[in-house]
Amino acid sequence: MPIVRLCEDALVLHKHHYNAQYYKLTLRAPRIARLARPGQFVHLRVPHSDACFLRRPLSLANTNPQAGTVDIIAKVLGQGTRQLADVDTGVALDLLGPLGKAWPVLQAGQSVAMVGGGVGFPPLFFYAQQLHPACRVTFYYGGRSADDILEEADLARCSVRVAIATEDGSKGVRGRVTLPFEQGLLQDRPDVVLTCGPTAMMRAVAELCQARQVTCYASLEERMGCGLGVCIGCVVRTSRGFERVCTEGPVFNVQDVWEWAHA
Ligand SMILES: Cc1cc2nc3c(=O)[nH]c(=O)nc-3n(C[C@H](O)[C@H](O)[C@H](O)COP(=O)(O)OP(=O)(O)OC[C@H]3O[C@@H](n4cnc5c(N)ncnc54)[C@H](O)[C@@H]3O)c2cc1C
Ligand code: FES
Repeated sequence: MPIVRLCEDALVLHKHHYNAQYYKLTLRAPRIARLARPGQFVHLRVPHSDACFLRRPLSLANTNPQAGTVDIIAKVLGQGTRQLADVDTGVALDLLGPLGKAWPVLQAGQSVAMVGGGVGFPPLFFYAQQLHPACRVTFYYGGRSADDILEEADLARCSVRVAIATEDGSKGVRGRVTLPFEQGLLQDRPDVVLTCGPTAMMRAVAELCQARQVTCYASLEERMGCGLGVCIGCVVRTSRGFERVCTEGPVFNVQDVWEWAHA
């Protein structure tokens, strides 16, 4: 299938601040909305910012092809995501996308465990909404505190089983999300595991899956320059040689990125 990448001036239609850290932007980007699949991302230019020379990669959190809109959910980490949080509705953002490879296509009836949190939540959230009702989805959702847990109502509406773990115990069980995930692996043994979030968490998930021979895909979050496969700034060693996270990824079968998983 040919790779199609589009550049769109995407109007900010709606802005929602979940809390001081996280926000969602709904953007008018009809061509990207039509093509994008869960797991893909857009590369976004932060408007009117000399400091943010490079675009910022942000996963698609949902699309509505009929309305011609895409949602992104971002966490304020540095200057770019902070400035983006302050853009007004009606401003046009320069988007490049959809970029990268999507999550694997799953068969109806398969059971899926998603493990993620923080900036890794949006691409899993997008897929969880699409998989319903074809698959049985359990979402192991981790964060430092209750502020990191978003869109619970929408996950419940999609009949996704949600198991929450926060490090301070302010929501769900206290501790790391790998705790409930490990219990789930033993009790329910999913057909496939999808993970996105902090690298240490994804490595732990990969390890648990390897020990029980469960197929696991991880969406790697490397820093990116061009996002288009040109600068070679985002390479990872795979079983096929070096590959670009922005182009051959960001989604990899963890078996293919064994060195990354065991670094
Ligand atoms: C494929 C992909 C999809 C992503 N999807 C989302 C998303 O949906 N929502 C979201 O909030 N963020 C997402 N990110 C991360 C996001 O791109 C960074 O948080 C953002 O670029 C930071 O920009 P900044 O200017 O705010 O911070 P900077 O000033 O550039 O950096 C601030 C801090 O964040 C760290 N950082 C920056 N980029 C990354 C990165 N890619 N991975 C890990 N740490 C980083 C830096 O080391 C630094 O400590 C994604 C990243 C990738 C590669
Ligand atoms: S970011 Fe330039 S090759 Fe991936």
